[in-house]
Amino acid sequence: MRIGVFCSGGDAPGMNACVRGVVRTAIGQGHEVVGIQRGYDGLLNEDFFINREGQPLLTLRSVSDWARFGGAFLRSSRSDEFRTEAGQKKVAANLVKHNIDGLIPIGGDGTFHGAVDLANHWPGKIIGCPGTIDNDLICTDYTIGYSTAVQTAVEAVDKIRDTAESHERMFLVEVMGRHSGYIAVHTALAAGAEIVAVPETITNMSAIHEQLNRLKQRGKSSVMMIVAEGDEEGGAEILNQRLKEGGCPFPTRVVILGHLQRGGTPTPEDRVRATQMGSAAVKAILAGETGKMLGIVGGQPLLTPFAETFAQHRPIPKHLLDLLESMSC
Ligand code: F6P
Repeated sequence: MRIGVFCSGGDAPGMNACVRGVVRTAIGQGHEVVGIQRGYDGLLNEDFFINREGQPLLTLRSVSDWARFGGAFLRSSRSDEFRTEAGQKKVAANLVKHNIDGLIPIGGDGTFHGAVDLANHWPGKIIGCPGTIDNDLICTDYTIGYSTAVQTAVEAVDKIRDTAESHERMFLVEVMGRHSGYIAVHTALAAGAEIVAVPETITNMSAIHEQLNRLKQRGKSSVMMIVAEGDEEGGAEILNQRLKEGGCPFPTRVVILGHLQRGGTPTPEDRVRATQMGSAAVKAILAGETGKMLGIVGGQPLLTPFAETFAQHRPIPKHLLDLLESMSC
């Protein structure tokens, strides 16, 4: 078989390890791998990774040492042209032209929506690997990059706490996650933040004011509030404004971590999960599976039809939110 692999959507640390897992497994079983550059755009433009021998194929050596690097060596993109039916037909024609009969997209829900559309025009096998820092897909315990993003955010919040303590301030730290509060909740728990604002729960400004006054009365000298960028009340700048209007008992500052969370050295967990997913995705294609995401649940690979993975918002377990609340005193 000739399997194509590509990264799509926001880059996530561990995507390179996943590609390596695909290449080493496929070639180890006697198959070929084409590295498609720049996601669906690369499929539209026949933009392939060229190896040292000048061939449009990934070799065992092409992916040497890839597991330890963040970013996406195959590049990534969000393709507007592929969203059109004409774009999808062009991609299907290019896949046929290059004799690609299996495809492994690594990305998030947008990537998997694209895979569903492509399947309407192309008969090959498609198995996706969840690659997004947001951890917002159901039917997998992990998405590639999430562990590293949380690690990066926690390190940043730990540093900001030093300044918060020194100046007796409150910091509102905004983290990524799009419509999901996963990064925010895990960062808040790990960094000992007093308050979190996430889209999964109602952000009640008067309750936050009461909590801040209680913390002040109890002698708290600094407060960290982690704000998910997708909170229904708005991001950290907006919440800061509202806190000030309501008479916040601490002087405040805002830090938006932004794309800092997307890059950097992948954690061992991201490297291991990504390798596991890439390898299992190849095996699933070879077994004749298609139209599914290869997730990991309870440590084991699990295949789920693409449409199910983005049909629901991934809930944050209530026990984590309760734990966070009980720690803030
Ligand atoms: O999906 C990953 C993510 O980093 C989100 O957390 C964020 O909202 C979005 O991508 C940012 O996208 P871009 O890099 O295109 O601005």
